[in-house]
Amino acid sequence: MNANLQSATKDDSFAPAGSPILAPSILAGNHAMLGDSLRTIESAGAKWVHLDIMDGHFVPNLTFGPQTIADLRSRTHLFFDVHLMLSNPHQHAQSFAKAGADLVSIHLEPEYPVMDTLAAIRSWGCKNGIVINPDTPVDELFPFVEYVDMVLLMTVQPGFGGQSFRHDVLPKIQRIRRMRDQLKLPFRIEIDGGVDMNTCVPAREAGADTFVAGSAFFKATDPDKWVRDFERRVGTSFTTGA
Ligand code: DX5
Ligand code: ZN
Repeated sequence: MNANLQSATKDDSFAPAGSPILAPSILAGNHAMLGDSLRTIESAGAKWVHLDIMDGHFVPNLTFGPQTIADLRSRTHLFFDVHLMLSNPHQHAQSFAKAGADLVSIHLEPEYPVMDTLAAIRSWGCKNGIVINPDTPVDELFPFVEYVDMVLLMTVQPGFGGQSFRHDVLPKIQRIRRMRDQLKLPFRIEIDGGVDMNTCVPAREAGADTFVAGSAFFKATDPDKWVRDFERRVGTSFTTGA
């Protein structure tokens, strides 16, 4: 094993809201070769990796847990964007923080102490995020927006990759972006589900600045070229930040 990779530490880069960030989701890669997926992401020039944690209860699918995150952590400097799809995120969030998450996002829909959990995530040294499903009204986010580093608007029903982008979420992106501008708040606006070379354009126009892409990235025959094309579509360079 490469000694440099073994000693890799967490990347704390968190660009200002508004500047586009790409977060490929390793859900769509081969799970027997998660380390290879990280290398694919790094060599394509992305700075974040999106890690989907599913419990088979809040969503009808299962993925991986804190041990996997810890083992991946030792292999990369990528920013770990950990998306918890759990019925009881307050009971597990700390394990993911300890495992090396840079950002932990939690859903609004289950019954648990959401505000306390958001505060706890920051107290463990991570950025925090609040997530809503496509059918959850955007107004329900408003009590939390002052206390979060990121708002994640699901653009598919969570649970599986490869679904179609929900265009009906675009007005919600616009609404949360307008509110962020009015209140001069610093949170990023992430979208997750069905993001590809076409759907990123109206989402960017609506105000999204953080783009999770699973299938579109991992199915690309040339991921490096895919990222360069994606950069052009959202108007940035992920490598230089320009
Ligand atoms: C879905 C997950 C997504 C998933 C997106 O529940 O939260 O992060 O990886 O996959 P695509 O890009 O294939 O829709
Ligand atoms: Zn996700």
